[in-house]
Amino acid sequence: MQLSDNFGRKFYYLRLSITDVCNFKCEYCLPDGYQHKSKACFLSVNEIRRTVEAFAKVGTQKVRITGGEPGLRKDLPQIIRAIKNIDGIKKIAMTTNGYNLAKHAQAWKDAGLNQINISVDSLTPHLFNKITGVNRFDDVMRGIDKALEVGFDKIKLNSVLIKEFNDNELQQFLAFIKDRNIEMRFIELMECGETSQFFNQHHLSGDGIKTFLQAQGWVQQLRAKDDGPAQVYSHHNYQGSLGLIQPYAKDFCETCNRLRVSALGKMHLCLFGEAGVEIRDLIQEDTQQDALIERLHQAVQTKEVSHYLQQGNTGATPHLASIGG
Ligand code: 5AD
Ligand code: SF4
Repeated sequence: MQLSDNFGRKFYYLRLSITDVCNFKCEYCLPDGYQHKSKACFLSVNEIRRTVEAFAKVGTQKVRITGGEPGLRKDLPQIIRAIKNIDGIKKIAMTTNGYNLAKHAQAWKDAGLNQINISVDSLTPHLFNKITGVNRFDDVMRGIDKALEVGFDKIKLNSVLIKEFNDNELQQFLAFIKDRNIEMRFIELMECGETSQFFNQHHLSGDGIKTFLQAQGWVQQLRAKDDGPAQVYSHHNYQGSLGLIQPYAKDFCETCNRLRVSALGKMHLCLFGEAGVEIRDLIQEDTQQDALIERLHQAVQTKEVSHYLQQGNTGATPHLASIGG
């Protein structure tokens, strides 16, 4: 039976984190870098397989692998392959910071990865390095070229809108997608528990971009049922498209179609504001599948109608590296 909640939302889309660790230090996420805790033991390939098998049984069609930085896991090709082989899974996507994409894009594609999202907050090298805290601009650019070359079904770039950092770069991003088949997405900065101050100083609304696009003849596209919350625009002069994600917009949660599982095996009903439902105890044996499915159904009944971010709720989420964005 399809997973759905008390507000009629159906969940086709699972965001699965496979590690909390990240090698970047993005100002809005992990400004001091990832702090290693003693012995965090992330989900194994078998635990991941059992998780996705259960979700697929209740309607999940698309899985996005996230982190932390998923590219840090040596067994990533095995993980992709295990998910690929599950009945009902039609699409596998992954979000990466792109640091080792040039090296591994082909192997990930061969394992079955269909789509890739790469975080690129700036196309100006020194600003990119400043925002991410690492000198990896060139590696990420080579990664994007490689991703285009190996031919994923879809390539998206994520750029978090940050006042005083990248608020002058729209023209540069537009030039970048003129002749590249890439969806460039601008994401409004969200407030997390550990980065409130940064949020207060640098949050920028995407409304300016929206007005600009509409004035320049960009046309908003319709959403597919497993699409994310982006409003996507296209233009006949551009090969690429532009997406805008405005988590603070009214009604943002109405079309929520996703659930999350953390790298430690907790299901999260929302990016913000709840502690997560333990599922790790039910992914130890294949025979536990029915019990897991039962728990999933019960848990989604407690999903709230909204994230209440507008009211300043950052809930239990210290930063997005802990739950995969
Ligand atoms: N607000 C908005 N986007 C964020 N990301 C990480 N932290 C935040 C935040 N506080 C983005 C990353 C990445 C995606 C997974 O989420 O830049 O592209
Ligand atoms: Fe790492 Fe992504 Fe967080 Fe940047 S936003 S520190 S790349 S997890």
